[in-house]
Amino acid sequence: METITLTMPLDMHVHLRDGDMLNIVAPLTSYSFSGALVMPNLVPPVTTLEAVKAYRHRIKLAMESDDFEPYMTLFYQNYSREFLESVQDHITAIKIYPSGATTNSEGGVVSFDIEPMRATLEAMSELGICLCVHGETNGFVMDREAEFMSVYEKLAINFPKLKIVMEHITTRAAVEMLDRYDNLYATITVHHLMITLDDVAGGMLRPHLFCKPIAKRPEDRAALLKVALEAHPKVMFGSDSAPHPKSAKESCGCGAGVFTAPIALQLLCEIFEAHNKLDNLQAFISDNAQRIYGICAEYKEVVLAKHDFVVPEMYGEVVPMRAGETLRWSIERVD
Ligand code: NCD
Ligand code: ZN
Repeated sequence: METITLTMPLDMHVHLRDGDMLNIVAPLTSYSFSGALVMPNLVPPVTTLEAVKAYRHRIKLAMESDDFEPYMTLFYQNYSREFLESVQDHITAIKIYPSGATTNSEGGVVSFDIEPMRATLEAMSELGICLCVHGETNGFVMDREAEFMSVYEKLAINFPKLKIVMEHITTRAAVEMLDRYDNLYATITVHHLMITLDDVAGGMLRPHLFCKPIAKRPEDRAALLKVALEAHPKVMFGSDSAPHPKSAKESCGCGAGVFTAPIALQLLCEIFEAHNKLDNLQAFISDNAQRIYGICAEYKEVVLAKHDFVVPEMYGEVVPMRAGETLRWSIERVD
């Protein structure tokens, strides 16, 4: 049987939530990944050292394996250098959200004017703390990410030593930024490698594929696929797996987020195999992230085999992407 072994897979953008939801989803990520960059958009958001430590502790309790590292993040505010020094050993990055851009981002920034943020961003670059960015304006929904490119440029130029990660990129415009500035990097989700807006709303509305940033055009997906499949050294896998209860997705006000944590590796195998690029999956799923973030992941080997896996209809109260469908690859074992 055809198999592939992935060593130390990393998910560099995941929402693990809290409470009952954390207990459902954390074991799914810790089973097949060595580590994950955990987003801070809880209610209230993670903004203090105590909150980081307490959240990490709750994640550790919820996981079912010990060989998994939750890489913690703080929710961006204008933090003092003194505070950043006190927290730097406990976090891997700080995540900045435009206020209101997505789920639980109300406490985000209302403007990306550089001057009010300069002291914090300078301290971050001196201390080597990465800035992860949800890059969307409040413009027309299909244009929000492309419109945000001028903000990335401004940040990259003003803080040349700050590592800036363009999170969950969905457009050709964002892909084109990668080679323009040394300090810009990106995460790419598995769903944005597979779907376009047509899959979300071209036929019957598919709420479980609705996320921010919304899936874009075929040419955007093609640009994402190109850099993911070649494992461009500045791109990493970040699932943006974002669970919401079924009742919140199948409602007249559907929350943004696609839940992919338990099927991400299987889908990536399918995609990379279809393009004859399975050899590049290791770099996309782990090596690039370890180099970019300077992390040394917990040792873990995940063996995937080419046999069918039927995706469960639900994990707890969450409907995964591809629920009830058959995937061509499955996780054979984890060592
Ligand atoms: C995320 C969530 O639900 O927390 N939703 C999403 O659509 N991706 C937030 C985010 O990363 O935008
Ligand atoms: Zn996210």
